[in-house]
Amino acid sequence: SQRKQIDDILASFELSKENLIEVKNKMREELEYGLKKETHATATVKMLPTYVCGTPDGTEKGKFLALDLGGTNFRVLLVKIRSGRRKSVRMYNKIFAIPLEIMQGTGEELFDHIVQCIADFLEYMGIKGARLPLGFTFSFPCRQASIDKGALVEWTKGFKATDCEGEDVVDMLREAIKRRNEFDLDIVAVVNDTVGTMMTCGYEDPNCEIGFIAGTGSNVCYMEEMKNIEIVEGTEGKMCINTEWGGFGDNGCIDSIRTKYDKEVDEGSLNPGKQRYEKMTSGMYLGEIVRQILIDLTNHGLLFRGQISESLRTRGIFETKFLSHIESDQLALLQVRRILQQLGLDSTCDDSIIVKEVCGAVSKRAAQLCGAGLAAIVEKKRENRNLEHLKITVGVDGTLYKLHPHFSGILRETVKEMAPQCDVTFMLSEDGSGKGAALITAVAKRLHNVGE
Ligand code: BG6
Ligand code: GLC
Repeated sequence: SQRKQIDDILASFELSKENLIEVKNKMREELEYGLKKETHATATVKMLPTYVCGTPDGTEKGKFLALDLGGTNFRVLLVKIRSGRRKSVRMYNKIFAIPLEIMQGTGEELFDHIVQCIADFLEYMGIKGARLPLGFTFSFPCRQASIDKGALVEWTKGFKATDCEGEDVVDMLREAIKRRNEFDLDIVAVVNDTVGTMMTCGYEDPNCEIGFIAGTGSNVCYMEEMKNIEIVEGTEGKMCINTEWGGFGDNGCIDSIRTKYDKEVDEGSLNPGKQRYEKMTSGMYLGEIVRQILIDLTNHGLLFRGQISESLRTRGIFETKFLSHIESDQLALLQVRRILQQLGLDSTCDDSIIVKEVCGAVSKRAAQLCGAGLAAIVEKKRENRNLEHLKITVGVDGTLYKLHPHFSGILRETVKEMAPQCDVTFMLSEDGSGKGAALITAVAKRLHNVGE
């Protein structure tokens, strides 16, 4: 029957407890490969050292600029940090658009555009003359040899500017500033958004040693014992590792749970074969999975009266905000139909029920997968410290986590089930990772000045 066909498709997104345990165990294995000298270079979970060796302690202070590139919004920020008993952070920021032609144009054009936006911001704030220290949140995988150097490994998500991969992003920014020849900046740190988020939350809660992003992309960082990081000299203390777990599964290790829809989304993306876990778990792709399922259902005459509309053929129509809205519990089906209408999809009442179910199946699987992944991380941290029981805080940010009505709840339940010996608190980062980048810059600046 028709209902059976629909149920079969939805069932292919269900994960059993065994599936989730397998994901957790595989993730753990890949984390270990990434930390080992012999396997680091080829690991799918890249485990990139960040040269951030501690969380903030409240002594950070000063005035900083921050850039925040790679999420939904590109921001330039001025961050003022006060230390001591009345420690506080004040921020002024401006959002700038990055047109698609620039995201996918040449590297020079991209960095010239960024510097143009900084210039506008400095002008607007009236601080063009001050040579402020700058922290650069750059939400892509970078191979770092110090806090202020980072070679882009490869673009992910919606970026594809030419001549950047393998290049140092700080150098590219410095060169663009030089080309413009209008102001000078002291670029002190490059920071992944996960790291910025961990630092922002760590400013309030010293127990926060993990940063998690569920947004356009999906990624985690955490504080690892130096002695376990074979590719960095030294055995004392800790360093934050940017896991780049979005690449989990790129060696085929989770292919048994990928559906044909996941494969279609992957093949239609800017980076086929790459970031397979990210493509099952993050905002940029969940809507695309939904769209692929809806196309299939329509082709089988199970939806939209069998008519594939122009909109349904359009890549990217289901943004995170629409999925979140469609799944909201208070929403009457009539309103779901209105949202679909807005997207150019004419639906019957039955259609709207099916669409809602499809969205639910896809987002539930995403939250469970992230939960299983996080369970691997917290369990590793627990074993590192030889504890029977671990209490830890995860700093979180991202549109999927913030906007989706069920994602965070399912995530939390899954972590609890998969890592019962860990007591995990999720702390929402309210101010984005720009604040964290400024905090990291403040620490780096202080250490640097002491050394001089
Ligand atoms: C915020 C950051 O912390 O979260 C962004 O400031 C980051 O730079 C973002 O990438 C992730 O969310 P999204 O949903 O905008 O990709
Ligand atoms: C992508 C990027 C990663 C980033 C994540 C969240 O996975 O590769 O660096 O942290 O998106 O924005």
